[in-house]
Amino acid sequence: MRLDKLLSNMGFGSRKEVKQLLKSGAVQVEGTVIKDGKTQVNPVEQTIFLLGEKVVYKEFIYLMMNKPQGVISATEDVQQETVIDLLSEEDRHFAPFPVGRLDKDTEGLLLLTNDGQLSHALLSPKKHVPKTYYAIIEGRVDENDVSAFKEGVLLDDGYKTKPGDLTILRSGETSEIELVITEGKFHQVKRMFAAVGKKVRYLKRIKMGNLSLDESLELGEYRELTEDEVEALKEK
Ligand code: URA
Repeated sequence: MRLDKLLSNMGFGSRKEVKQLLKSGAVQVEGTVIKDGKTQVNPVEQTIFLLGEKVVYKEFIYLMMNKPQGVISATEDVQQETVIDLLSEEDRHFAPFPVGRLDKDTEGLLLLTNDGQLSHALLSPKKHVPKTYYAIIEGRVDENDVSAFKEGVLLDDGYKTKPGDLTILRSGETSEIELVITEGKFHQVKRMFAAVGKKVRYLKRIKMGNLSLDESLELGEYRELTEDEVEALKEK
């Protein structure tokens, strides 16, 4: 690929800025200063240095965000803040998008990537990728709800859900639960609880496939996945 395109794609500036960098002699390919941006390079096989620092080429980016409430899981919106707005310019350069959606008032694990194939695999209804949610529910969640979810519940549009694995963490005037589901229907968790006459007060996703939310991330923070985490996700 063209050297100027590669550097620009990697976030080292606009094409114009990269041209300036090249002109100044800041870029070396295999130890030779290259000033012509049109030069074809193979970033996997050739070693590229920019201002003395090795350029580590990557095509895909995989980010885990602890999504806060109040932002939407979209790439752009004229009025509302999106999860993409929370990314650094450097990371936005890779054009990541959220893998599936969390509601505006839902917190927790959101994966962002520009790897369309992985995104598709994780979201495909055929793959049944499990998603785990923690929730606070208004009212007393009991064993009847556990059985109903295990059986599958009828949503407001007549759809019967696949079995959900409901664990009661605490039951009282409000209850705390964990729920594992393998589908991703619109507002699914809220609608499953509505189906048993209960309301979700707080919702947080804590796991998707083999990937658990890194609890050290503050709300709105994110980090790149480790290679092991990416591999584990691909296995699912
Ligand atoms: N289910 C919901 O109701 N909302 C979400 O954001 C995710 C799952």
